[in-house]
Amino acid sequence: MNIGLMLLLSLHVLSAIFWAGSTFVLARTGGSGIDALRRPQFGAAGVAIVTGVPLAAILHGAAFGRQEQVLMVAVIAAVTALIVQIMDRAQPARSQRIAGGLLMITVLGMVIARYVA
Ligand code: HEM
Repeated sequence: MNIGLMLLLSLHVLSAIFWAGSTFVLARTGGSGIDALRRPQFGAAGVAIVTGVPLAAILHGAAFGRQEQVLMVAVIAAVTALIVQIMDRAQPARSQRIAGGLLMITVLGMVIARYVA
C-alpha cells in the first residue's frame, strides 16, 4: 500500500467515524446539541464520500464480486442516511435515529466487506 492510499484511507476513516459517531450521539440525545454539530457532520459526510469514491475506484475498479456487493449496500445506506439528515432537518430526533441505524449498516459493511468470500 503506498503512502497516498494510506492517506486517502486515513482521511476516509476519520471523517466517516466523525459522521457516524456524531450521528449515534445525537440519536441518543434526541437531537440535543445539533446546532453545534450539523455543519461539521455534513462536512464529515462530504469528506467520507469524496474520499470513498476514489478508494473504491483504486481498490476495486470495475470488479463486482461479493466484496463489492457488500460495499455497495454500505454505500447505499450511507447516501440514504445523508439524504434523511438533509431532508428531515426539522425533526433531528427522528432523522438522527434513522441515519444512525443506516450508518451502522455502512460501518459494518465497510469493515466486513474484505472478509466475505
Ligand atoms: C460513498 C461513500 C463511500 C464509499 C464509496 C466508500 C468506499 C470505501 C472503500 C472502497 C473502502 C476500502 C475497502 C477495502 O479495504 O477494500 C472503504 C473503507 C472503509 N470505509 Fe468507506 N466508503 C464510503 C462511505 C463510508 C462511510 C459513510 C463510512 C462510515 C460511516 C465508511 C467507513 C469505512 C471504514 C471504517 C473503512 C475501513 C474498513 C477497513 O479497512 O477495515 N465509509 N470505504
